Amino acid sequence: MAKKGVTTTVVLFLALVAEAHAVHGAGRRKEEAADPTHLHFYFHDTVSGKSPTAVRVVEPPPAASSSPMSMFGMVNVMDDPLTEGPEQGSAPVGRAQGLYMGSDQARLGFLQAMNLVLTSGPYNGSTLALLGRNCPLDAVRELPIVGGTGAFRFARGYALLRTHWLDVRTGDATVEYDVYVMH
Ligand SMILES: *[C@@H]1O[C@H](CO)[C@@H](O)[C@H](O)[C@H]1NC(C)=O
Repeated sequence: MAKKGVTTTVVLFLALVAEAHAVHGAGRRKEEAADPTHLHFYFHDTVSGKSPTAVRVVEPPPAASSSPMSMFGMVNVMDDPLTEGPEQGSAPVGRAQGLYMGSDQARLGFLQAMNLVLTSGPYNGSTLALLGRNCPLDAVRELPIVGGTGAFRFARGYALLRTHWLDVRTGDATVEYDVYVMH
């Protein structure tokens, strides 16, 4: 009887030690996760000219119910360069590959689904997957990061988009990206 009591105490003690370790471990992971990687670059969406990097694959169908400015139903596919600075000729850091489509009937609002493919720096070869709502006329747009590959396995986070330059006649634009990612 006494021996059984000792065994139970030892088992309980070990269980408590294990739990304390688990709690400590979780706390440490949380601290690391609270410090996201910040990436900053510029995105160039060129729809006009001889070598566009974004192409219209579906024209917005004429629909009485939608505002003409909403581009509802339009689909563009892009392979847009990402650069360090705001100039087109600035050092390349990657590509934004995917699509954006008019998915708001009342105003200009895209569903944007893309991979950010990094081609230089410490994350060269890694990708981030973004999926979210982009209303290009808003001052700041937020897109969720839903995953990644390479250094960005298990990635989650968000990207803040701000239009740096826009040609209202052609639709060509340069957008500043601030990406905050935990991985
Ligand atoms: C990125 O990685 C590729 C493949 O390893 C390599 O060929 C390329 O030179 C690297 N680019 C930079 C800018 O480091």
